[in-house]
Amino acid sequence: MKVPQLSLALGALVVLPALGNARPSPSPTLGRRWAAPSPALSLSKYDQEVFDVAMTINDWAWEPSTGWIESDDDNGHTSSRFTAWYVPGLLYRNGEGDVDKAIWAIKNLIGLQFTNPADNGTAWYWDYKEASDIPSPNADTYPAEIYGSYDPNWSYFIGLQFVQIIEEFESLLPSSLIDAMVDSTYKAARNLMTRVGYDGDNLVTAYSNPTIGRAIVVEWVGNRIGDTNLTMAGEQYAKDIYDLFTADGYNTLGEYNVPTYYGEDVLGLCQWIRHAPANSSLPTYGKYILTKLWEDIAEHYNYDLKNMVGPYDRVYHRNMLIDDNIISIFFWMLLGRDVSPVAPIGTDSAIYDLRQGASFALVGQTLRDTLNQTILDSLVTPVGDVDRLFTRGIRVSLDNDTTRVNTAWVNENVMAGGQQVAELYNRGSQFTPMILHWKSGNTTMPSRPYVSFFQLYATASTINATVTPWHIEVSYPNTTQAGTDVFEYLIGDIPAPYWAAGQTNLPCLDVSISSEGLNGTVELGKYGDFTIQSNNLWMVSYYVNTTYEGTPRMSFEVKYTC
Ligand SMILES: *[C@@H]1O[C@H](CO)[C@@H](O)[C@H](O)[C@H]1NC(C)=O
Ligand SMILES: *[C@@H]1O[C@H](CO)[C@@H](O)[C@H](O)[C@H]1NC(C)=O
Ligand SMILES: *[C@@H]1O[C@H](CO)[C@@H](O)[C@H](O)[C@H]1NC(C)=O
Ligand SMILES: *[C@@H]1O[C@H](CO)[C@@H](O)[C@H](O)[C@H]1NC(C)=O
Ligand SMILES: *[C@@H]1O[C@H](CO)[C@@H](O)[C@H](O)[C@H]1NC(C)=O
Ligand SMILES: *[C@@H]1O[C@H](CO)[C@@H](O)[C@H](O)[C@H]1NC(C)=O
Ligand SMILES: *[C@@H]1O[C@H](CO)[C@@H](O)[C@H](O)[C@H]1NC(C)=O
Ligand SMILES: *[C@@H]1O[C@H](CO)[C@@H](O)[C@H](O)[C@H]1NC(C)=O
Ligand SMILES: *[C@@H]1O[C@H](CO)[C@@H](O)[C@H](O)[C@H]1NC(C)=O
Ligand SMILES: *[C@@H]1O[C@H](CO)[C@@H](O)[C@H](O)[C@H]1NC(C)=O
Ligand SMILES: *[C@@H]1O[C@H](CO)[C@@H](O)[C@H](O)[C@H]1NC(C)=O
Repeated sequence: MKVPQLSLALGALVVLPALGNARPSPSPTLGRRWAAPSPALSLSKYDQEVFDVAMTINDWAWEPSTGWIESDDDNGHTSSRFTAWYVPGLLYRNGEGDVDKAIWAIKNLIGLQFTNPADNGTAWYWDYKEASDIPSPNADTYPAEIYGSYDPNWSYFIGLQFVQIIEEFESLLPSSLIDAMVDSTYKAARNLMTRVGYDGDNLVTAYSNPTIGRAIVVEWVGNRIGDTNLTMAGEQYAKDIYDLFTADGYNTLGEYNVPTYYGEDVLGLCQWIRHAPANSSLPTYGKYILTKLWEDIAEHYNYDLKNMVGPYDRVYHRNMLIDDNIISIFFWMLLGRDVSPVAPIGTDSAIYDLRQGASFALVGQTLRDTLNQTILDSLVTPVGDVDRLFTRGIRVSLDNDTTRVNTAWVNENVMAGGQQVAELYNRGSQFTPMILHWKSGNTTMPSRPYVSFFQLYATASTINATVTPWHIEVSYPNTTQAGTDVFEYLIGDIPAPYWAAGQTNLPCLDVSISSEGLNGTVELGKYGDFTIQSNNLWMVSYYVNTTYEGTPRMSFEVKYTC
């Protein structure tokens, strides 16, 4: 299971206001056959590789007696989102029996939408159930819990997927089924519009991946059924995302430097470009954000270490050579696997993410049409002798000018990044406010070295982690906050040759530490005492002297020794 949290708005779940019911009478466009978007789909060699792997995984997981993709990731033994992700692949492949399977899967999915009038007014009304073999949220046996017994990501995942399916493959499907899909997408859009960032929900504009998806789902369906309110709402969502992205000239997403959700962002933005209605602003906004996003990815990306420098607003996996992050799949599509930051396809994380590979492959050409050769070249350029040092501002809202500040440094053997953040709520275990990666050994392939890392684990919500070349400063400027009594570091991915050699210091890295305001106690964890996703980690805790009145701080001076 993936562990949550960008959650800023907390609090008990409160029943959301009922949805408005003013639904325009069926417009003459409903059910009409739309031309597929132009240019026609064309998959590059690498798109096709991703597509084929995705189809192999999904073919293997398809249960032919029930019409579901089987999976134990979504609280039951089927998965509605994985099933939705199979459908565009079936329709594009269009081999024997594929269209029939797609129709069956779509009918199954529509049947899982919460349309029972008894659910009207709940947060999951018009969302989709996560799996077919689980109860609906109910107080007795399956208490309502966001991202638990129901997950509003589903109306985004499936709504976005329906948009792609209808846009690309309408002519392959019966028109009555298309009508039912449009109706279902309308409901998903209305469900997404009830997510207002409070009352137990956390969908604010800064929460980039679902808000990017919501903008196109809402605008697209508004246009399709002739509901101008929805069309304009989609425009507004997109404008908010663009305005927050460009605020103060920063060109940064509110959910920043997140190698997994950057993949969802890229998919959503490509759909802004390819699937928006004719006179929409989304393609213009989308091209701008996508271009700046990839320029920024290129600056963060270390071709020698095959990883993106931190800090990460959210991260599942800290080493792209060992585990998949969805953005890795787009590197593969742009550049080919051999030169990309990819983990072996058979790893759990890669198989998980590649279930969505067909829908990624179908936007590959849109991405390539948006990025020019200069950006692509920079993704295969070694760091060389000139280190990169850069700063980024990240805004959290259009309503205030609260800004987080990232500093990052990239050298061919070592890289590190830190964030200055002052908030009231801890961003949780995915938040990585400071991380250093280094080349810790040679493998038989120069392009895939051993890479290790250490990171600060965020125990507090006000942290100043600032990086300059060969130097990291970490401090707690607000010691009234919980969690400022300890600096917790996690060390991961120490390579095999180190263990064989029986060394005692970190391989290839000298770290000298100085500090202020600590009490002298340092605790070393045992291997695996602390785990995050696939990582078994070494934890090192430095305790703060709680009677010290200044700002507790630690400085790391690093030297590369190989
Ligand atoms: C849905 O979004 C929430 C909030 O970011 C996250 O905790 C959860 O893991 C997501 N679910 C999936 C399946 O991505
Ligand atoms: C559109 O919004 C207006 C103003 O809020 C409202 O009166 C109208 O009923 C809405 N139309 C639809 C189709 O929801
Ligand atoms: C949901 O409940 C609201 C408030 O009672 C009502 O106006 C609306 O018609 C209901 N929606 C549907 C689709 O029945
Ligand atoms: C696009 O054009 C249609 C028809 O003129 C109009 O109803 C709609 O509001 C326009 N959409 C945008 C985003 O301007
Ligand atoms: C490529 O795009 C970047 C913006 O991403 C721009 O700065 C650069 O001038 C472009 N280069 C060429 C050769 O068009
Ligand atoms: C700024 O807005 C964000 C998002 O609404 C909120 O979480 C944060 O607390 C606000 N900051 C301040 C200083 O009010
Ligand atoms: C990798 O091998 C090269 C060439 O032998 C050597 O210079 C370098 O120090 C080695 N790096 C590591 C991290 O062992
Ligand atoms: C954070 O720390 C750096 C390095 O010590 C310092 O230059 C900067 O002023 C600090 N920022 C804040 C907001 O305190
Ligand atoms: C320090 O943290 C406390 C507790 O979260 C908060 O109430 C206070 O506003 C913070 N002080 C500053 C200067 O941010
Ligand atoms: C430092 O603080 C930790 C946590 O409170 C405590 O366990 C430890 O005994 C303290 N060390 C000293 C030397 O006071
Ligand atoms: C803790 O800080 C107080 C106040 O600065 C100081 O008197 C004391 O010696 C410190 N204790 C340790 C263990 O450093």
